[in-house]
Amino acid sequence: MVFQPNERLHLGAEAEVWSGLWMGRQAVRKIRRKRGWRHPNLEKRLGFRRLLSEARLLIRARRVGLEVPAIWDVDLEKGILIMEMLPGRPLIELLRDEKSTQDMIRNSLYNSGALVRRLHRLAITHGDLSTNNILIDDDLSAHLVDFGLASIDYEVERFGIDLHVIDEILGASHPSIEGGIDIFLEGYLDEESRLGPAKEQTGGVVPSADAVMKRLEQVRSRVRYHG
Ligand SMILES: Nc1ncnc2c1ncn2[C@@H]1O[C@H](COP(=O)(O)OP(=O)(O)OP(=O)(O)O)[C@@H](O)[C@H]1O
Ligand SMILES: [Mg+2]
Repeated sequence: MVFQPNERLHLGAEAEVWSGLWMGRQAVRKIRRKRGWRHPNLEKRLGFRRLLSEARLLIRARRVGLEVPAIWDVDLEKGILIMEMLPGRPLIELLRDEKSTQDMIRNSLYNSGALVRRLHRLAITHGDLSTNNILIDDDLSAHLVDFGLASIDYEVERFGIDLHVIDEILGASHPSIEGGIDIFLEGYLDEESRLGPAKEQTGGVVPSADAVMKRLEQVRSRVRYHG
């Protein structure tokens, strides 16, 4: 099906992302860019695997109602994903916008934490939890994009690392937002209290929100100690 491009949203080292129309609907096309320095066959296999994994995990999360884009088409040969265009703007913009009120910031961070916990309860770690990959809509609901580094996991480490990545980013790129990470973590923990213990997944039981928080503390002290 033909995608009619409208505007380039992002040109990164790994991907080129366009908004446009697909079957008359607002859509996003993500093209995985070729990295010249790798062997072409290896390149193809790695690209295949990552694109397939990105599509699979997005579909898995979306199926149970998480706020992630629906996948509409995948072309593994060309390295293309066509997906639903989500409303909202990246959290990074909202945090940097002088017009954002404390309440807006608080709600966005809280809702982001809650959504990340719901993702973790599916045994999915995001792998790149930056304020660029969280979109906030007009209702201040959070949505997650960019599952290129996401994976299925049951060991607590990667869950802790997810929280540590956003912890570092909120501290480093947004130092003016005091205690931002605490609001995010409050949302993360409250979501677990609200929903009860996570249901067992096909591969076992995911670490509890408390266990992931403890691991975050350990990762923080590891980083402090080793620099
Ligand atoms: N479904 C979507 N709806 C709305 N905006 C999107 C969607 N997917 C991506 N975007 C926007 O495009 C940006 C880049 O997309 P994405 O994060 O998936 O690429 P990327 O893998 O980070 O690329 P690179 O690693 O090369 O920087 C996102 O930060 C977001 O602002
Ligand atoms: Mg991204």
